[in-house]
Amino acid sequence: MCGIIGCAGRGDDTLDVLLSGLEGLEYRGYDSAGVALANGDLSVCKREGEIQRLQQAVGSDLDGPVGIGHTRWSTHGPPSDQNAHPHTDCAGDVAVVHNGIVENYADLRAELTDRGHEFESETDTEVVPHLIEEELADGKDFEDAFRAAVGRLEGSYALAAVTRGSEAILATRRDSPLVVGVGDDAAYLASDVPAFLDYTDRVVYLEDGEFARLESGSWTVTDAEGRLLEKSVSRVEWDAEETAKSGYDHYMLKEIHEQPRALRKCLRGRVDELTGTVDVESLAGLNPSSVQFVACGTSYHAALFGAQALREAGVHAQAFLASEYATSPAPVTDDTLVVGITQSGETADTLAALREAHRRGVETLAMTNVVGSTAARECDRELMIRAGPEIGVAATKTFSSQVVAANLLSAAIAERSDGREVVEALRDLPGQVQELLDSSRAKQVAREFVDSEGYFFLGRGYHHPVALEGALKLKEITYKHAEGFPAGELKHGPLALVTEETPVFAVVTGAGEKATKTVGNVKEVEARDAPVVAVTDGASDVKRYADAVLEVPETHPRVAPVLANVQLQLVAYHVADELGRSIDKPRNLAKSVTVE
Ligand code: AGP
Repeated sequence: MCGIIGCAGRGDDTLDVLLSGLEGLEYRGYDSAGVALANGDLSVCKREGEIQRLQQAVGSDLDGPVGIGHTRWSTHGPPSDQNAHPHTDCAGDVAVVHNGIVENYADLRAELTDRGHEFESETDTEVVPHLIEEELADGKDFEDAFRAAVGRLEGSYALAAVTRGSEAILATRRDSPLVVGVGDDAAYLASDVPAFLDYTDRVVYLEDGEFARLESGSWTVTDAEGRLLEKSVSRVEWDAEETAKSGYDHYMLKEIHEQPRALRKCLRGRVDELTGTVDVESLAGLNPSSVQFVACGTSYHAALFGAQALREAGVHAQAFLASEYATSPAPVTDDTLVVGITQSGETADTLAALREAHRRGVETLAMTNVVGSTAARECDRELMIRAGPEIGVAATKTFSSQVVAANLLSAAIAERSDGREVVEALRDLPGQVQELLDSSRAKQVAREFVDSEGYFFLGRGYHHPVALEGALKLKEITYKHAEGFPAGELKHGPLALVTEETPVFAVVTGAGEKATKTVGNVKEVEARDAPVVAVTDGASDVKRYADAVLEVPETHPRVAPVLANVQLQLVAYHVADELGRSIDKPRNLAKSVTVE
């Protein structure tokens, strides 16, 4: 949550770079935004609300060769102009932007107030410029003052600061991402690469406890004691086109339509169709006796799928909500593998769970979309899902890629008799997703049920995570009540909520025992006059009890969830669109949640 951008060395267009960078980061938070530019002077402009409000407010007096910007997702203090970043010291000489939480801010604030500092905001961040101010007043230079101030902080942070009279940006991180962009004549700083991808694809990932100094086109990284560090420059594979909307009304719709390509990338070079085997270099030699998945939100739904796939192959496997795992960890043995599924690789709850696993000495694997993310760097192994940048707050293509990657993981850990069939189904999957996208009736279904007050989603086995994910997607972008249930569980309570006003989406593929049982559950809701939308390949007779049907192509049971879920993504998208919701930036949410 919250996005940081910084730029040194661009000259006249520093402000434009900051503002366009903030647009690229808006998915990280959109409660307020602000910029600070420094030269001989220091000028700050910040506004509550989306970046457009800041763009309208910036005046011609805002210029300077270096600048920092911020887009906020509120933690301490509601959205307001005062609580927007950058925050400044008493004299207005130092400006600071911050992601994360300063846990000891109350003590620091009381101490600073006693010494005469005046605060303008309710944020935890504002203590930082005041601490720097004191160190500067003590005679330290900007860099030593920044280091000393950071030394007083407890909690998590990515921080960047500028000061009047200096042409340097100083930055550091702990438990919150920060990356330096290396341009030909300029240096950039951001909490996420897309913010400066228009200008450079060369990056340096900062590690916890490292300090960066950016000046007119140059950059250095030092450790906490100020010793110069040798950092390698990597090239990111994403390009600016991938982070643009490309004619779609919303990123979410674009990303839904990118799924065939994303899935092809996820599979490329990893499966051998002739032998039906999976060969992923980073998974070589994995032989755990048990697997624990940790994840949040959509990624947790992919984790539920992964755990089930492994259990079916005879491996002990469980999925845990990362926020619970960190506080109540499950027992492990020497050969347990803990897998963190996290699109961003920066979700604080998931990182905490992975660190707990690490602390207990077990092997960890990050299944993530972001090369160089904290999860990727901290885990023993990584499995990249290769979905490409996902900007919409609602995860879509990354869920599909996670499910495919979970299939690869399962195949790499446990040999299965149906390995070849799964590989064949995976090979056909991108084409089938395209077919579904070209023919989906989700928009009509969405229009039919847009006025409903609540929605239910049912699925059994591998479709249970799909039911949960269908409900989460609808909730987060339409603001309507939606719940997903294992199909057999409905009769144990939730059935009391089912009425003729509550559409029930039933995911049923294949014709085996699971499908037959789910059809039985569908009859139970149909008997209560609930409208039923069947998401089905037509192999069972579920259509007989359905008021509407969303077709999915036939495939292997371990691949079918991806197809069914694409239909539900489209339903959520079109309901939200009919309602005129802020689809890419739903209220109260942020793409990457970097606080626990
Ligand atoms: C999904 O639509 C949400 N944006 C959210 O549940 C997300 O999946 C969750 O916060 C986990 O994020 P991660 O995959 O980046 O760890």
